Amino acid sequence: MRTEQPRTIYLKDYQAPDYLIDETHLTFELHEDRTLVHAQLVMRRNPARGSGLPPLVLDGQQLELLSIRLNDRELGAHDYLLDDRHLTLQPDSAEFVIDSSVCIHPESNTALEGLYKSGKMFCTQCEAEGFRKITYYLDRPDVMSKFTTTVSADRQRYPVLLSNGNPITSGSEDNGRHWATWEDPFRKPAYLFALVAGDLWCVEDQFTTMSQREVALRIYVEPENLDKCQHAMDSLKRAMRWDEEAYGREYDLDIFMIVAVNDFNMGAMENKGLNIFNSSAVLAKAETATDAAHQRVEAIVAHEYFHNWSGNRVTCRDWFQLSLKEGFTVFRDAGFSADMNSPTVKRIEDVAYLRTHQFAEDAGPMAHSVRPDAYMEISNFYTLTVYEKGAEVVRMIQTLLGAEGFRKGSDLYFQRHDGQAVTCDDFVKAMEDANGVDLAQFKRWYSQAGTPRLEVGSAYDAEAKTLTLTFRQLCPPSPGQAHKEPFVIPVDLALLDGQGRELPLRLAGEAAASGTSRVLAVNEAEQSFTFVDIPEQPLPSLLRGFSAPVKLSFPYSRDQLMFLMQHDSDGFNRWEAGQQLAVQVLQELIGQRQRGEPMVLDRRLVAALKSVLENDGLDQAMVAEMLSLPGEAYLIEISEVADVDAIHAAREFARRELAEALFEPLWQRYQANRQASRQSAYVATAEHFARRSLQNIALSYLMLSEKPEVLEAAQEQYREADNMTERLAALAVLVNSPFEEAKAEGLALFADRFKDDPLVMDQWFSVQAGCPLPGGLERVRALMQHPAFTIKNPNKVRALIGAFANQNHANFHRDDGESYRFLADQVIMLNALNPQIAARQLAPLTRWRKYDLSRQALMKAELERILVSGSLSSDVYEVVSKSLA
Ligand code: ARG
Ligand code: ZN
Repeated sequence: MRTEQPRTIYLKDYQAPDYLIDETHLTFELHEDRTLVHAQLVMRRNPARGSGLPPLVLDGQQLELLSIRLNDRELGAHDYLLDDRHLTLQPDSAEFVIDSSVCIHPESNTALEGLYKSGKMFCTQCEAEGFRKITYYLDRPDVMSKFTTTVSADRQRYPVLLSNGNPITSGSEDNGRHWATWEDPFRKPAYLFALVAGDLWCVEDQFTTMSQREVALRIYVEPENLDKCQHAMDSLKRAMRWDEEAYGREYDLDIFMIVAVNDFNMGAMENKGLNIFNSSAVLAKAETATDAAHQRVEAIVAHEYFHNWSGNRVTCRDWFQLSLKEGFTVFRDAGFSADMNSPTVKRIEDVAYLRTHQFAEDAGPMAHSVRPDAYMEISNFYTLTVYEKGAEVVRMIQTLLGAEGFRKGSDLYFQRHDGQAVTCDDFVKAMEDANGVDLAQFKRWYSQAGTPRLEVGSAYDAEAKTLTLTFRQLCPPSPGQAHKEPFVIPVDLALLDGQGRELPLRLAGEAAASGTSRVLAVNEAEQSFTFVDIPEQPLPSLLRGFSAPVKLSFPYSRDQLMFLMQHDSDGFNRWEAGQQLAVQVLQELIGQRQRGEPMVLDRRLVAALKSVLENDGLDQAMVAEMLSLPGEAYLIEISEVADVDAIHAAREFARRELAEALFEPLWQRYQANRQASRQSAYVATAEHFARRSLQNIALSYLMLSEKPEVLEAAQEQYREADNMTERLAALAVLVNSPFEEAKAEGLALFADRFKDDPLVMDQWFSVQAGCPLPGGLERVRALMQHPAFTIKNPNKVRALIGAFANQNHANFHRDDGESYRFLADQVIMLNALNPQIAARQLAPLTRWRKYDLSRQALMKAELERILVSGSLSSDVYEVVSKSLA
C-alpha cells in the first residue's frame, strides 16, 4: 500500500545485475504467529559489469529485519540503509556471504503473494515479485542461484514439508517439531522458489522418461480431495510424453510434485519440481467438475509442466520478456490439447476467447504490446495480450516456417539458451538462425499493440482468368503508439469453385501451381496478389484456422457465407462463416431494435442451422459450436458504441426464434444424446464431451419454448445426472427460466448437496451471477451474505463478482449505474486485502469508452471515486489512472 504515485519501470533502462548469487541457503521456522527466515547468500560481483564495488541493493518488502551479517561481521544500523523496499549495504570484496534473519507474517498475508496461509497450510507464490516478501534478495529473473531449503514446523499440524528439487535429509526435534531439507540442483531465479507445509495426502504414480529414467509423480491435496486427482495425474503423464514426442523435451529431476491450494490468485505456478495449483485447476471428477473444468485441468497441468523447459530451464531476462515463457507455453499447451481432443474445436474455442477478450484489451486503455515497454506493477501484465496474443505470435512463426522449421528453431532455442535468462529477441533469433530467414519485420508483433484490421478485396478478370486479391492493413492507435508500421500477416487461404472444390493455386510469375491452399505473407500497408489459371469466379476462404490475430473483413454476402459453411474444407472456416452470418443477422436485429422497428430474423440463419443440426456426419462438438451464437461480449467488442440493451434483446430474440423454428430437430438431438448419457458412465474423452455439449446447448434452446415436456426433461436431467456437466447445465436452464418453483428447488437441492465442496459452490454462485433476468444486482448482493461466500478467496470473488461484471451484461450495465457502484465498492475493499485481485476485477469499468455517454459518465465517476478512495495499491492505481488518462 502506498500513498505516493508508483514509479514506471522501462524496458530501455534494463541493466544486468551488479552482483550475482551463486548459492542460496534458506531456513524457515514456521510458527502460528510468525515465521523466521534465515537466508545465507553466497555472492560475487558480476564480472560482466566491470570492476569496482557499487553498493549492493537487495529487494525486501514487509520484512522485519532481525539481524544481518556480511561475511562474519554482524552489521549495525549505521552499516546499511533500510527503506520500505530495499536494504542497501557496501560490500568490501568481490566475493562475500550475506546472512540475514527476518520475521514475516504469513498468517495475516491476505494478498496471497510471498509466503501465506491457505486454510491450514503454508504455501508460497513468488512470481513475479513475491520472493522479496520472504527475504532480502536480488529478486529479478536474471539472477539465478542454486537453492537449498530447510523447513521446520510443528510435526502434528504440518506433517508434510516440501520445497523445490530433491529431498535430502529430515529429522525431528524434541519439542514436537520436525524439519526437512530440500536441494534443487538447477540454478533458478527466485520467482521459481516454492515451499509448502501442511497436513497433506498424496496420490502417487511413476513416469519413465524417454531415456528410461524413473520419475516419481505426486499430487498433494487435503484428504477430502484424494478422489479428485486421477484426471490431473493422467493429464500429467500425457503431457510428459507429449513434450518428449513433440519437442524432444525430457523431465530432469527424480520427483515432480503438484500441490492443490484453495486460496490462489491465478491458475497455477510452475515452481521448479513443485508446481502449486489453484485447486480449481487440478481437482476434477465426474460428480463435481464439468467437462470444461476437466479440459481446463488437463490444459493447466500441461501448461505448468511444459514451463519446466519453456520458463525454467530457459527463463526470462526481465519481466518485459514475460511472453517469452507465457506466450510460448500457451502455444505449447494449445498444441497438446489439440492433440488430446479435437484440434478444430480447440482452435474455435481459443479464437472465440481471443477475439472476445484479448481484442477488447487491445482496444482499451491498458492496451500494451506482447513485449510491453513500460509498467508500474508487473502483476497487471499477466494479461490476455502477453499470454494469448503471445501464443498467436508464436503460432504465426510456426505458420511461416512450417512445422519442421519451427521444430528446428525450438531445438536450437533450448540448446543454445539452456540455463540462461533470455529475451524474446533471442527466441526469434533461434528461429531465424535455424531456418536461415529474416524475421525483423515480423518482430513488430512484439512491439506494437492493437489489433490490425485486414480489409480484403477481390477482382476476377474472366478474360485473363486471373483473380487479384488486394489486402489493406491498418492498426488503430493505442496508448503511447499513435502510428504503426505494417505487420507481417500470414494469410492461409484457398479459392473455392462453384462446387466448393479448392482450385490449384499459382501466383502470377510462378512456374507451376503448388497445392490448393497456401500461406501468403502480407507485409505492406496495401498489397495485391494475382492468381492465374482461375477458370471461374472463385470464392476465397481466407485466414484459415485464424492464421493471424487480425480483424478480417471481406464483403461476403449472406449466401456466400452459407456456401462456405457447407463447403469449406477448413473446419475452422466453416464455423467462422456461420459466426459471420450470425453477426450480420444479429447486427440487423440490433438496428431494428434501436430504430423501434419490429425485429425480423433472416430465415437464412434458421436454414443454415437446420442443415447443421440435420447433418449426422458432423462431429457433434462442431454442431454445438455452430449452434452457439456469437456472445454478447463479442457483439459489444465489435460495436463502435455498444448498445447493451439492444444487443441483449436482439440475441435473445434470435435464440427464441431459432428455438421455435428448430424445436423438432433440437428435441431429437437432445433426447438421443440424453439417452446415450443415461446408458453410459461418465468418461472424460472428446467424443463424450461432444455429445454432452450438443445435448446441453440443445436443452438451453428448447427451454426457451417454456413447454412442460422440456421443463420435465430439464428436471429429470438435473436429478438423474451422474456428472456435473449435465447437472449444472440443467440447473442453469432452470435458473434462467421463468419457472420460479423449479428454480428455487434446484438451487436449494444443489446447495444442500454440495455445501461442503467449495469448487462446486463456485459454480452455484456463477450460474446465478450470470442470470440475465431482472434483479441481478440484488441477487448478487444477497449471495455475498451466503455462508459459502468469502471475499478473501479469489475463486469466490471470480465466481460471483467477476461472473456478474463480466458475463451478465444486461444487469451489470443497468442504466442507473448501481452495478458500477457495487463493483467499485468491491474493488475498494479488495484493494486493501488483495491488490492483484482488486486490479483484475476492475477490468469491466476500464472499458467505459465503449458505451453511451450516460453510462460513460457513470463508469468514469466510479473510477474517479476509486482513485481518491484512500491509499491505493500500485496494482489498482495503475489500472485506474491509465483508464482515466
Ligand atoms: N507463471 C504462472 C503461469 O503459469 C502464472 C503466475 C502469475 N503470477 C502473478 N503474479 N500474476 O501462468
Ligand atoms: Zn504460464
